Amino acid sequence: MSTWPEPYRIKMVEAIRMTPKEERLRLLEKAGYNLFLIPAEAVFVDLLTDSGTGAMSDRQWAAIMRGDESYAQARSWFRFYEVVKGITGMEHVLPTHQGRAAENILFSELSKPGLVIPSNNHFDTTRANVEFFGAEAVDLVVPEGHDIHARLPFKGNMDLGRLEDLLKAKGREKIPVCMLTVTNNTGGGQPVSLENIRGVSALCREHGVPFFLDACRFAENAYFIQQREAACKDMTIPEIARAMFACADGATMSAKKDGLGNIGGFLALRDGALAVRLKNALILREGFPTYGGLAGRDLEALAVGLEEVQDQAYLAARIGQVARFGDALQKNGVPILEPTGGHAVYLDARGAFPHIPAADLPAQSLTVALYAEGGVRGVEIGSFMFGKKGHDGEFVPAAMELVRLAVPRRVYTDNHLGYVAEVAGDIVRDRARFGGFRVVDEPPFLRHFTARLAPLPLSAP
Ligand code: F0G
Repeated sequence: MSTWPEPYRIKMVEAIRMTPKEERLRLLEKAGYNLFLIPAEAVFVDLLTDSGTGAMSDRQWAAIMRGDESYAQARSWFRFYEVVKGITGMEHVLPTHQGRAAENILFSELSKPGLVIPSNNHFDTTRANVEFFGAEAVDLVVPEGHDIHARLPFKGNMDLGRLEDLLKAKGREKIPVCMLTVTNNTGGGQPVSLENIRGVSALCREHGVPFFLDACRFAENAYFIQQREAACKDMTIPEIARAMFACADGATMSAKKDGLGNIGGFLALRDGALAVRLKNALILREGFPTYGGLAGRDLEALAVGLEEVQDQAYLAARIGQVARFGDALQKNGVPILEPTGGHAVYLDARGAFPHIPAADLPAQSLTVALYAEGGVRGVEIGSFMFGKKGHDGEFVPAAMELVRLAVPRRVYTDNHLGYVAEVAGDIVRDRARFGGFRVVDEPPFLRHFTARLAPLPLSAP
């Protein structure tokens, strides 16, 4: 079968509006060509992120009504706790308002100057929290993770050789925790194999270093394991998820992804003594430990979402949809990072716009073009986000020039994504019409959120 029919039907719809092109051009100019500054109402298909943008089910909305808003020991807390403990097998669960709050609490205890925290790839907020508390965040993804077109099954894997070298060189005194992001968002939404998770776990155990999963997209990762790892083909998704978490001492989770919620997260762990210390930080930053950063109704909705996300038919439709989106883009002549990841397709802007040098921000140009031409919003992950100034003030480009088109869960149909693929195809065919950009105003850090840009004049053909 070449289609995966969604195992749900649509009970409620939300109108979206295609704005006239002149209006989009005006809005772009007003926003300094930064898509984060465009009003969402003026976006037709919004693929900025898959985080918190999913559609909740009728069962989740019904659960919202059952929310128990008692301050302490609410019924909703026990419901949430049992589901999270069932998936992770971890005794201690700290609910937070989203993933970065879980990271902040964890690293406020574990990250200190002089220490090193490895991962396959730290997500931006993970890296920022590690570095805020003083440790160095090191990325040790396998080399093929940097190869845009290598069609390999587990490009999110940790490089076990480099991890072992680091563990030997630094030891448990200098490495307070090892992280592993599943799936690897920064590396293109690529999965990590169960074999690799077990390998990381064994090395960490051998060296006495705690091992934590960044589990935002654990169910999507489990699906890839089932489909691509021969030894796991007969396991169910809940079995694979449990096997993944069984390797770890703890996990941080943004439940805005595979929690199928619009807000929420948690920190789960086995170490009771560490849990006590983290709970003190939780009370200070988020709230009392049985609600943390969430309302009772959020806990209820997430408890249902965390179960629904492990449904085989749901995952086949979800991952299938993203894969078909990637195929449609390629059929339209748009180069992408291969193979297609779990939650997003990453356009290769270097391949799409070879006439724009890295210093003129080709991935930002493609991002702007997608909005100008079709009302489509994606996010630049290239030299606008990661480009730097070297020691002599020279421009140091990002390793890759990508545009991420993240697919919200249960929100858009294949028709929406087919439309996006056509818009992108037309842009790439007509590439000479699109020129570079320069930054005209930027804040001191995380510039991509607020910086303003200006188009460079098109050079004569
Ligand atoms: N870890 C990973 C792998 C993520 O992708 C994210 C968020 C976080 C942690 C932080 O979670 O947003 O709930 O605080 N990623 C979103 C994205 C923002 O668009 O990829 P949060």
